[in-house]
Amino acid sequence: MTGYADGDAEAGAKIFKKCGACHKIGEGAKNAIGPVLTDVIGRRAGTFEDYRYGKSTKAAGEKGLVWREEEIFKYLVSPKKFLRAYLDTRKAKSKMKFKLKSEKDRRNVIAYLASFSMKDSKPWPQRTPIRQMMRYQKWLQRQTKQWLQIRLEKFA
Ligand code: HEC
Repeated sequence: MTGYADGDAEAGAKIFKKCGACHKIGEGAKNAIGPVLTDVIGRRAGTFEDYRYGKSTKAAGEKGLVWREEEIFKYLVSPKKFLRAYLDTRKAKSKMKFKLKSEKDRRNVIAYLASFSMKDSKPWPQRTPIRQMMRYQKWLQRQTKQWLQIRLEKFA
């Protein structure tokens, strides 16, 4: 399956307000009730640093779960059911109690997440060089700012 990021990132920003009760994203985002979601697309499940994940989420990451758009698309319907299916056990649990049923909302919010992620956001044939460059530029700006911040904090 391809092209979930074909959703509308601007509409997704509004949906993300719901996620924002638990998740932070973007520059300087910190773990909250849920882990930071910057660059979550392409990230192995259960691996954002210093976040205390539930056992099942960690186990899924160890089993090989990487958050591509299509996994997040399925996950958001019901994190618990997703993990139960992935780990093939009815004992699996998720610390995330939130569900997003609407397919359109899921597509849009994923497009929004993708605007904060460098990896695996769109299948290659759908990436136009200009969009790719713009995204890369934004990403680079963010990285540079973060890097500078770390240096500055060290010397403060
Ligand atoms: C009520 C709080 C809450 C809301 C609202 C919420 N989440 Fe979560 N989310 C969590 C928690 C807690 C976890 C950690 C799950 C675990 O460790 O079992 C999580 C985990 C995740 C993960 C896996 C991250 C990783 O590093 O493995 C993704 C992806 C995610 N959430 C996306 C979303 C999106 C997108 C939304 C909005 C549509 C959302 N969440 C709304 C609490 C929430």
